[in-house]
Amino acid sequence: MIFKQKIGCDKLSKRKIERNINGGCNVLVLDKIDSTNTEMKRRALDPNKPDVIVANTQTSGRGRLGRSFFSPSNTGIYMSMLAVPKSDENILLYTTATAVAVCLAIEKLTDKNPLIKWVNDIYIDGKKVCGILAEAVTDEFNKSVRYIIIGIGINWGDAKFPDEICEVAGSVCKENERILRNAVIAEIINEFRKIEETIFDKMFIEEYRKRSMVLGKKIVVLNTNEVGVAEDIDENGALVITLESGESKTLSTGEISIRIFGNTDFKNNI
Ligand code: BTN
Repeated sequence: MIFKQKIGCDKLSKRKIERNINGGCNVLVLDKIDSTNTEMKRRALDPNKPDVIVANTQTSGRGRLGRSFFSPSNTGIYMSMLAVPKSDENILLYTTATAVAVCLAIEKLTDKNPLIKWVNDIYIDGKKVCGILAEAVTDEFNKSVRYIIIGIGINWGDAKFPDEICEVAGSVCKENERILRNAVIAEIINEFRKIEETIFDKMFIEEYRKRSMVLGKKIVVLNTNEVGVAEDIDENGALVITLESGESKTLSTGEISIRIFGNTDFKNNI
């Protein structure tokens, strides 16, 4: 008997995700939610909170800089992981660590070559396929960071993007490919956990640099319009640039976005 290979994304399944995660993990799978990051924030102080929330669609998916994140059903991966920082470390480290984890998972399960656009975007073949939004939950008394919620949005299966983003956004898989979302989610969690164990050694930054699509390129800093060349990613995940004036500058806040000269993502505001 010949089994026809089903095309498209698989149905999300708690069991199928959890069975592939090393060391146990409580994954909450939802069909629809406003935003997995918002839901994780609502549950963060609950003693029975999940470690990871995954949704099939989001009605108010959020991106950086107050942007929305297009989250259609059945084709994307929308997930939020809860991390407990061991010290009041730079949230940027978690964003960069997650970008590396997502790249490693994609490389392991597909033949694609993902690249990272500082700080939180992953591109394949010139199109943005993934964005990361890390948010801190602070202790209301001493203001220390209690949790970091790391949201990952991936255009996994082939999707029809709205006009405003269709020039920039792409999907990891093409129409006729079938790579299983449950397996990818588990692999991202496994890779992230491996990096997280030694996050403060900052060893993973080298993996981040290797996949950087900005190093050596002429860039513009969007909120200041400064133009320079991206020289390095420092050990904290910050971008070191040399401005046209020759001055060196380190960009480390999550509120900064850059555009690579010649790319179209600036005008599309994605
Ligand atoms: C960006 O591109 O600026 C970041 C996008 C992050 C989207 C993910 S989807 C899962 C999680 N929930 C959200 O509302 N946002 C993040």
